[in-house]
Amino acid sequence: MIPDLISGKKIILGITGGIAAYKSCQIVRTLMTRGAEVRVVMTPSATEFITPLTLSTLSGNEVIINTFPASQKQNLKSSPWHIEYGLWADLMIIAPATINTTAKLANGFADNALTSLVPALRCPVLLAPAADMDMYNHPTHRANLEKLLKLGYHVCEAEQGFLASGLSGPGRMADVGKIIDYAELIVSGLTEDLKEKKILVTAGPTYEDIDPVRFIGNRSSGKMGNEIAKSAFLRGAVVTLITGPTKENCYPEVKVIKVRSAGEMKNAVEEELKNNEIIIMSAAVADFKPASISEWKIKKEEKPDSIDLVKTDDILSAIDKKGKKVIGFALETNEAESNAEKKLSSKNLDMIVLNSLEDEGAGFEGSTNKITIIDKSGRKKEFPLLSKFQTANNILSEIKNLG
Ligand code: CTP
Repeated sequence: MIPDLISGKKIILGITGGIAAYKSCQIVRTLMTRGAEVRVVMTPSATEFITPLTLSTLSGNEVIINTFPASQKQNLKSSPWHIEYGLWADLMIIAPATINTTAKLANGFADNALTSLVPALRCPVLLAPAADMDMYNHPTHRANLEKLLKLGYHVCEAEQGFLASGLSGPGRMADVGKIIDYAELIVSGLTEDLKEKKILVTAGPTYEDIDPVRFIGNRSSGKMGNEIAKSAFLRGAVVTLITGPTKENCYPEVKVIKVRSAGEMKNAVEEELKNNEIIIMSAAVADFKPASISEWKIKKEEKPDSIDLVKTDDILSAIDKKGKKVIGFALETNEAESNAEKKLSSKNLDMIVLNSLEDEGAGFEGSTNKITIIDKSGRKKEFPLLSKFQTANNILSEIKNLG
């Protein structure tokens, strides 16, 4: 079992009455699978969309809907449930948060179980608002969300997309994975610490074409770079991700530039460099490419005896690093630390992240990584095997510590 920051956390899920309530089951399930303890509180209108039985079965706990629940009435000695919940929780997630509940919270109303609980909480609150597009963008709703942000609430904004009404636009509740990522950052104490930093991340492999159907590539999945981009965005940064071919999907708010070859990646990095202050090169860029690309598919009968290769440009070595923090990755199979140190100095980097394929669970593919970070002052920090998201959080925290 790898350490998981969600594990052991006490989380209240508040569900209000919107169609996105059907996704709340997945939130409970994911939190439980990761070892959290979950209690659910619903507004009466949420029960029109999803049954309390489903949620009590999934969470293994009574679901509170009424301000005066039967369990409270039967046990007059216990302290009021909302005070007990308020002291118990490490985090409350309200997903979906309707316009109505958002307005009540922004104005201090406490007229149902959920809104009575919120003022009793000692923990952070994460809202995942959702509504149809015109309602979502209504100035009153925007003002209420702004007010809640100023009061210290966290808001995982809704996304653009196909809405239950048939319209397409902003208002679709954030993806469950993103809400959980946000929750993980909150329980790690890592929110807004990269506010407005402009960060460029590269990810994935590059493919160097031999002919229209064949290429030379590598096994990079692009996951590590994607997780860095996600964490940086949730921590408040403005993020651009330049990615080689990968199945990974980043958040919609991250500017994603898709490239294929090392040459295309180089052009994209050079183009985006001026707009960014932190450059994180996690891509596994090909070092060689075919000297020429056949215009036609090479037929079986034409089997070449060899393929001439030429070197690609080393993007990281070549970029202008003035005024920027530049972080490289080193993927090594042997003499890992000394090779990483050489790359740190020869490529003139501020920091290098070493993945050694000698470590089980590290490197390409998979959802875990084990890294050692070395900075230009010689400081070395080894991390245990962690999820790639947690690894991304650690990398960004170390970059912040570079000063
Ligand atoms: N890199 C790059 N351009 C290349 C090759 C690598 O910018 N053509 C970057 C990678 O994104 C990574 C760092 O350089 O941040 C180190 O990459 P790695 O593949 O570990 O090392 P190489 O420099 O390619 O050396 P070698 O393959 O010999 O280990």
